[in-house]
Amino acid sequence: DWTTTNVVEEQVAAIRAQVGTKRAICGLSGGVDSAVAAALVQKAIGSQLTCVYVDHGLMRKGETEQVEKDFVAATGVQLKVVDAQERFLNALAGVSDPEEKRKIIGREFIRVFEQAQAEIVAEAGAEGEDVAFLVQGTLYPDVVESGGGTGTANIKSHHNVGGLPDDIEFELVEPLRQLFKDEVRMVGQELGLPEEIVQRQPFPGPGLGIRIVGEVTKERLDLLREADAIAREELTAAGLDRDIWQCPVVLLADVRSVGVQGDGRTYGHPIVLRPVSSEDAMTADWTRMPYDVLAKISTRITNEVADVNRVVLDVTSKPPGTIEWE
Ligand code: XMP
Repeated sequence: DWTTTNVVEEQVAAIRAQVGTKRAICGLSGGVDSAVAAALVQKAIGSQLTCVYVDHGLMRKGETEQVEKDFVAATGVQLKVVDAQERFLNALAGVSDPEEKRKIIGREFIRVFEQAQAEIVAEAGAEGEDVAFLVQGTLYPDVVESGGGTGTANIKSHHNVGGLPDDIEFELVEPLRQLFKDEVRMVGQELGLPEEIVQRQPFPGPGLGIRIVGEVTKERLDLLREADAIAREELTAAGLDRDIWQCPVVLLADVRSVGVQGDGRTYGHPIVLRPVSSEDAMTADWTRMPYDVLAKISTRITNEVADVNRVVLDVTSKPPGTIEWE
């Protein structure tokens, strides 16, 4: 029988069998998957788990604070926050290719985790531990779309599956590998996580790095963060959070178009809104959003975000488009 209680019991037993008395770390991204994976592992091995939040500068506005406060408050988990913004920006400098970005971000994550793991082991006075476990919130669709499943082409390297480097020193713990998103949410609920975490819309591990079409720079990230915050604020205000699966906000950094503002000519970048409806992210349709909400988002973004003079709506389903642009 598939029940959340059974899933939790099975996974707790499997995690205990795999990790034993050793230590594990879990990267938290602020998303549902890593939060539920962490809560499951914590239930299984308690204080042998330390969560690591890598602040890579590719997060949305307010996300770091949310992880630091909400998740820790809900679970009481041990949390280590690593400021890695410069490291990621340096590694991404000059890179525009989507797969290359994904690989770089996956690699840098692992390098930061390795460092964090070494520090945690040292702090605990447990030098000499040979196996280091890394908990990942990999879902079934991630496995399939990264080419790890049965018979599916390699669409993108999800950073928690295909995007990891080959020389990884961790043994992976992936308790959600057989689950779909709605099931993960149910498991999260069963584990007592708060609504704000369990019902959060999906956000990709590589963050805003794969929502800038073109090179990732600090200025572009700041600009996209502003536009994204406005879109999210208005979607929430309109009560649409539960109707929309997610709404990526994408910056076309290498595209410019002519505009006019006041008496002046502008030559700025477009922002793409990508609201989608979906059951499991494997397929999706573009959401027929109310025009007045779109209008409000467009007006605010072009007024409030410097260098953006145009907002466009993505009306492509998946397939043929993917949800994220990269
Ligand atoms: P695509 O763009 O492949 O996205 O249609 C499907 C779903 O997966 C999310 N996504 C990711 N999630 N790591 C993640 O944890 C990733 O590398 C990644 N790439 C895409 C995306 O937001 C959507 O919900």
